[in-house]
Amino acid sequence: MKILLIGNNGQVGWELARALLPLGEIIGVNRSQVDLADLDGLRHSIQKYNADIIVNAAAYTAVDKAEAEQDAAFLINAEAPGILAEAAKKTGALLIHYSTDYVFDGTSSSAYTEGDAPNPLNIYGQSKLAGEQAIQANGADYLILRTSWVYAARGHNFLKSILRLAAEHEQLNIVADQIGSPTWARLIAETTAHILRQSLLERREGGFNSGLYHLSSAGETSWHGFARMIVDVAKQRQNRVLKTHTINPIPTADYPLPAKRPANSRLATSHLEQHFGLKMPTWDHALTLCMADIADFAHH
Ligand SMILES: NC(=O)c1ccc[n+]([C@@H]2O[C@H](COP(=O)([O-])OP(=O)(O)OC[C@H]3O[C@@H](n4cnc5c(N)ncnc54)[C@H](OP(=O)(O)O)[C@@H]3O)[C@@H](O)[C@H]2O)c1
Repeated sequence: MKILLIGNNGQVGWELARALLPLGEIIGVNRSQVDLADLDGLRHSIQKYNADIIVNAAAYTAVDKAEAEQDAAFLINAEAPGILAEAAKKTGALLIHYSTDYVFDGTSSSAYTEGDAPNPLNIYGQSKLAGEQAIQANGADYLILRTSWVYAARGHNFLKSILRLAAEHEQLNIVADQIGSPTWARLIAETTAHILRQSLLERREGGFNSGLYHLSSAGETSWHGFARMIVDVAKQRQNRVLKTHTINPIPTADYPLPAKRPANSRLATSHLEQHFGLKMPTWDHALTLCMADIADFAHH
C-alpha cells in the first residue's frame, strides 16, 4: 500500500507521517517536492508516484493573509484539491483531504453537522469550501475531514503563541466570544489512521462510500478558555515559571483582524463516531497530553 502524503511538514502532516506508518509505505513530500500552486507539476507528480492513497495535509492556512491573497488561497485550497481528485480518479487512488470549521458563518446556536449549509465569512473559508466542492464534483473516492482550531507541539499555533506570550507579559487579553473545540494535530492524524484502515477494508469489500466528516475534539471552549487552560496546565501541573497572572476576556470587536471569524465553530462529530466506531476525547484532555510532550522535550 503506497501512501502519498502531501504537506508532511505541517502540523497535521508531521503527525500523519507517524500515525500512518503501520498502514503502508509513506512517501512524504513537502512544498519543494510537490507544490500545490503548480497545477501541471501536481498532475505530473500524482502520475509519477502512482499511490494507492493520496493524503493532502497541505493548504494555504494563513487566514488573515488570505484576505489580501485571494488568488493564492484559491489556487492552493480550491484548484489544487480539484486536480488531486481528478488525478485520483484516473489512478483509482483514495483521496483524503482536510477542511475547516470556517466554512460556516457561526450563526447557529448548536454544533454544526455535515448537513448544515456552509456560508464562509472569509476568503480562507471560501477557498476551503471551493476545494471541498471541487473534490466532490470529480467522482474519485474521497474522504473530506473538517477539523477546527488545530494545535500541536510543533508548528505555528495558538498553544505555542500563548506559552510564548505568557512568559513575557503579566496580563493577556484573549477573545472570549468565539467558541469551538481545540483539536490536537496528533488526534487528527491518529483518527485519520483508524478511518483509513476501515475505509480500505470497505473498499476491498465493495462497501465504501465517499463522504464528508467532522473531526474535532469533544467539548467546547472559547479562545479565552483555551488560553486559561494552557497557562493553568503549564503553571500548576508542569511548574513552569510564567509571568502572566491574569487573562482578561475580551470581545472580538476589541481584537480586530483582517478576516472575520465565526462566533460558533463547534463541529458535531457523531457522524464520524458512529460510522467508524470512535469516540473523540475532550479538548482539555488532549491538550494536557500534548503539553506533557512539550514539557518532556524541554526537560531533556
Ligand atoms: N490550523 C488550523 O487551525 C486548522 C483549522 C481547521 C482546518 N485546518 C485544515 O487542516 C489541514 C492541515 O492544517 P495544518 O494546521 O496542519 O496546517 P499548517 O501547519 O499551516 O501546514 C500547512 C502545510 O501546507 C504546506 N503548504 C502551503 N502551501 C503549499 C503549497 N503551495 N504546496 C505544498 N505545500 C504547501 C505548508 O508548507 P510550508 O511549511 O512550506 O509553508 C505546510 O507544511 C489544512 O487543510 C487546513 O486547512 C486547519
